[in-house]
Amino acid sequence: MIEVKNITKTYKAGDIKFNALNNVSFSVNDGEFVAIMGPSGSGKSTLMHILGALDSPTSGTYFLDNKNVSTLSDDELADIRRDKIGFVFQSFNLLPRTTVLRNVMLPLVYAGIHSAERENRAKNALRSAGMDEEHFHHLSNQISGGQIQRVAIARALVNNPSLILADEPTGNLDSKTGEIVIGTFQKLNEELGRTIILITHEQEIAEHADRILFIKDGILIEDRTTHQKRMAKV
Ligand SMILES: Nc1ncnc2c1ncn2[C@@H]1O[C@H](COP(=O)(O)OP(=O)(O)O)[C@@H](O)[C@H]1O
Ligand SMILES: [Mg+2]
Repeated sequence: MIEVKNITKTYKAGDIKFNALNNVSFSVNDGEFVAIMGPSGSGKSTLMHILGALDSPTSGTYFLDNKNVSTLSDDELADIRRDKIGFVFQSFNLLPRTTVLRNVMLPLVYAGIHSAERENRAKNALRSAGMDEEHFHHLSNQISGGQIQRVAIARALVNNPSLILADEPTGNLDSKTGEIVIGTFQKLNEELGRTIILITHEQEIAEHADRILFIKDGILIEDRTTHQKRMAKV
């Protein structure tokens, strides 16, 4: 599904050039659950933006479902983001003073889905993300951190994307709530076959994935299969 070849992302500040990503290569198969780990500033979010077709590399190629993403037009990129990819951003970007249900329905407005169908799909996405029905009509600024996370996950699911990209989705949660949220990703992967790429700096969270990529100073330094995956294969 994903093939990243020799990707470099260079930022310039005046005369100074800085490689946020340096010659990174890896591939991800359909249905894999991959965690990306690395210290703050190591290039994780930069990589996620490239994988999500929100940004392009300075050099190197990125193939998504055998399409060379770097050669696509803005319209084609927008179509890919709308149809194939679900994002859970580091800041959740929920609309305040708007109900949970409406927040999840919003991406479908842009996708041109009519309203009865929007509501139906949004409710299903909320259920898949483990949100209680009683909270569907609460305002998004009146729910807890763990619930906000679930709404953000539901919103990423509502387009039925084959690829889910999540940037530190458990970052601000206590460890118990974090485990529940990661359980939601695991279910989406195991039961619905979604491909998941999740950034985290917590080892315990990363161990729920099949595979962990370690990034340091923009370089991919390790790519290993987790215990979780090895157990599943036995
Ligand atoms: N738009 C940008 N312009 C210049 N430098 C950036 C930009 N975005 C990120 N960086 C720098 O690139 C490096 C990697 O950032 P980032 O990908 O956000 O790291 P991480 O998500 O691992 O914390 C950091 O040093 C950061 O300051
Ligand atoms: Mg980041």
